[in-house]
Amino acid sequence: MSSGFQPAPNPSIAQTQAARTPGRGHVLVIGNEKGGSGKSTTALHIAVSLMSDGARVATLDLDARQGTLSRYVENRAAYAARKGIDLPMPLHAAVTLSTLNDRKEAEADERNRLEAALEPAVAATDFVIVDTPGSDTHLSRLAHTWADTLLTPLNDSFIDLDLLARVDPDTLKIVRPSIYAEALWKQRQLRAVQGGRPVDWIVMRNRLSSLAARNKRDMGTVIEALAKRIGFRVAAGLSERVIYKELFLTGLTLLDLKRGKGGPSLTMSHVAARQEVRDLVASLNLPPAAEPAPSDGPATGTATPAPPPAG
Ligand SMILES: Nc1ncnc2c1ncn2[C@@H]1O[C@H](COP(=O)(O)OP(=O)(O)OP(=O)(O)O)[C@@H](O)[C@H]1O
Ligand SMILES: [Mg+2]
Repeated sequence: MSSGFQPAPNPSIAQTQAARTPGRGHVLVIGNEKGGSGKSTTALHIAVSLMSDGARVATLDLDARQGTLSRYVENRAAYAARKGIDLPMPLHAAVTLSTLNDRKEAEADERNRLEAALEPAVAATDFVIVDTPGSDTHLSRLAHTWADTLLTPLNDSFIDLDLLARVDPDTLKIVRPSIYAEALWKQRQLRAVQGGRPVDWIVMRNRLSSLAARNKRDMGTVIEALAKRIGFRVAAGLSERVIYKELFLTGLTLLDLKRGKGGPSLTMSHVAARQEVRDLVASLNLPPAAEPAPSDGPATGTATPAPPPAG
């Protein structure tokens, strides 16, 4: 893969994105304490996009109770088996919450569980994509501390923006950052002071309306202002499209749809949607995947397809 990687500068916090540590996967945490912002959907789309470029990818589900990402990956393997096709598969693991009653012991247990899942994933792949729950949990906070890149999908609504900042309704000026934004800001500052790897925090707008509505424009203005104030980059967003809901049952993503190959058919609108996903991944500006050593096996796992049914 080409090595023209230019680390992305982040506004307001004097730090830039780190280059890949040799032999370690780049950790992309998808985080937003608000539920239903598209974290799990985005996680699998980014994973498949990276795998289709030849990268080795692991996915980690920290929302194991809901298990959306795990189900998505399971559905994908089942679909490949059913259709007798090869689909690139991430190395997938889910981390469950501790069942210990004592809070301190439970937190230590969760730290161990997370490390036990993350360490091998980081060692074996180019990218580890961590899907977090839509709420503030200890496990989710821990995962945020592992991020090289943190991606926050945000539904294109002021209700969702409230997670990042309180906004004056008359002037649209930012009154103050929210608890989540402040916690992230502190975490990044602390890391900078400790000389740790910088975190590239990126916010993406999701479920963008195709209409040029006032809400869409106002959201854009406020997000740009907030980006400067609390220090994130804004990535290309995804439009509101029914296809994202439909693909879940097959475990496919827009990147898997092919013309005339059976399965869900590819329409012009899907082509545009797929380009949006590609643009999103490009704007994450992730460091390039490591060149595989000659003795390395396949870049990623593939779902082992069952033989096509006879007859
Ligand atoms: N761009 C989009 N267009 C249309 N529907 C979408 C889009 N992105 C996500 N959705 C739908 O929104 C719902 C929430 O998405 P998803 O489960 O990925 O969010 P989440 O942030 O992981 O939620 P949670 O916080 O509950 O884990 C799902 O029904 C999904 O299909
Ligand atoms: Mg989810």
